[in-house]
This record gives sequence, C-alpha cells and structure tokens, in this order.
Amino acid sequence: MSVIPSASNGKITVPGILQRKSGIHPQNSPPQKITCLTAYDYPTARLLDEAGVDILLVGDSLGMVVLGYESTLPVTMEEMLHHTRIVRRGTRHALLVADMPYGSYHDDPMQAVRNAVRFVKEAGAEAVKLEGGERRLDLIARLADAEIPVMGHIGLTPQSVNAFGGFRVQGKTEEAGDQILRDARAVEAAGAFSVVLESIPRELGARITAELKIPTIGIGAGPDCDGQVLVIHDLLGMSFGHQPRFARRYADVGEMISRAAAEYCRDVQQGNFPSDGESYHLSAEHRGAPVARRG
Ligand code: KIV
Repeated sequence: MSVIPSASNGKITVPGILQRKSGIHPQNSPPQKITCLTAYDYPTARLLDEAGVDILLVGDSLGMVVLGYESTLPVTMEEMLHHTRIVRRGTRHALLVADMPYGSYHDDPMQAVRNAVRFVKEAGAEAVKLEGGERRLDLIARLADAEIPVMGHIGLTPQSVNAFGGFRVQGKTEEAGDQILRDARAVEAAGAFSVVLESIPRELGARITAELKIPTIGIGAGPDCDGQVLVIHDLLGMSFGHQPRFARRYADVGEMISRAAAEYCRDVQQGNFPSDGESYHLSAEHRGAPVARRG
C-alpha cells in the first residue's frame, strides 16, 4: 500500500512535516499541530491512517503493549521489521516511522546504518526514530547522509531505563534541563527532521520548541510542542499497569473486549450461539437426503 508522494495525493512527507513547525509562517495562520500515534498491526494502521493521523510510529513500545515484555529492551530487529511491514500495508497517507530497537544502533555505526536501511528497503519505512541526544550526533548525520530521515527522541528515553533507574520524568533540575536542551540542539544540528520530547516539564518542552527549527513531538512534554504522540493502546484503554499522567484515555476498548468475550462465552454455554439464522441450511431438494460424510 506504499504511496509515492506527489503534489496532490495528500501523502504526508518529511518536508511537509518540517513545514508544520510553529512560528515559521508568522504572516499566515499558525500551522496545524502534528498528530502522531503508534501502530503495530494492519487494522489499526488502516483505521488511524483513514482517521487522518499525520505520522504512524511503529514504536518499540511494541515490546511492552503487544509482545508482553517488561521493557522495550528485548525487542529485536526482526520483530520491528515484521511489524513495520504489517503497518506499511495499512498506511496510505501517514508518514511511516520505524523505531530502531535497543542494540541495533549502539555499537558499530556502519551496522547501525545497515539496520536503518533495512527498515526502508525491506519494510517500507520512510524514516527511523532513535533515542539519545548529543551522543547520537555522528550517527544521525550518517543516516541523513544515507538519505534516511531521522526522528530524534530525548528526555525520558525508555531504552535507558536501567541507566535512569526506572521510568522517571527527566529534566527537573536546571542542570538536567540544560543537558536536554543541549541534546535537542545536537539532534537538530545532526540533521534530524523532528524530535520526540518525552516526560519533561512543560516549561522545558516550550523552551526547546521555541528554540528549534525542527518540529518537536511531545509525549508528556506539555501542550506547547509542535505535535503530540501517544501509544495507541493507552489512548484506547488497552494497556495494563501504571498509566502515566499524560496518557489520556479516549475509549475503553479493553473493557469492550472483555465484555464481548464474556457474553460470547455465555451464549455458547447456554446454546444461544449460533442461532438458526447464523447457520447454513441444505436447499429444499437436498433436505431429507443424508449429509455426505467427510473422511
Ligand atoms: O516506542 C514508542 O512508542 C515511542 C513513543 C512513545 C514516542 O517511542
């Protein structure tokens, strides 16, 4: 379902996202905020794409919300490629971004470039996302050189859960905030086309957004970012365990699934499913004749 961008087919592109930076068209009305949601499967990708979401992110949150891991750390390249291909098939208009999993870009930079190329060549991603600021300067520049648009990700970077000692709001002291600001500048200077700001104080999100020329996409970074991203399972009420403060629930699909499954079990057990109307019937000429036996 890949769509090659053209002037008129409504495809969201990297240059289109860059143009949505707030404040770059001061004479016109402010650009629309960028919307981004995670997707990991075909039906969800289709529904979100058709609903007009700008960016579909195959996040490595896959590991926690779909695969049942305790963190994103065990997620492999093969798992990410598999789910990116699936989401590709359901995506026509949105920009498709794939997350590089832990270990796929932390060692040999050439291997990191080869891994990023796989997302584009084998899975149809149009950009990759990777975590880290100043220390990723060189890698982001290499990827940009290889024609791979990069979305940065700073603040609370879940792949650093062990280094951080848990999932905690970042940048709360002046020193920590300054480091995140330096990270944001580095990601932009290296050539990233956007940056995710995760779990930082609203004031810091606003400051980074005002300073950078590339769009900021916030998740727990306040309303002043150029766009917002949420994990789709949080938005739909399909995730388990602790919900962060920013994870607004727009529907309780988890509750709907539980209720529907319980009702189905009851109907089967009480002989109420399937009904006669939900059954196939022999035609009149065959009625009365014995049904051919299989095997
Ligand atoms: O993996 C993910 O889903 C993410 C988003 C929450 C930004 O990184």
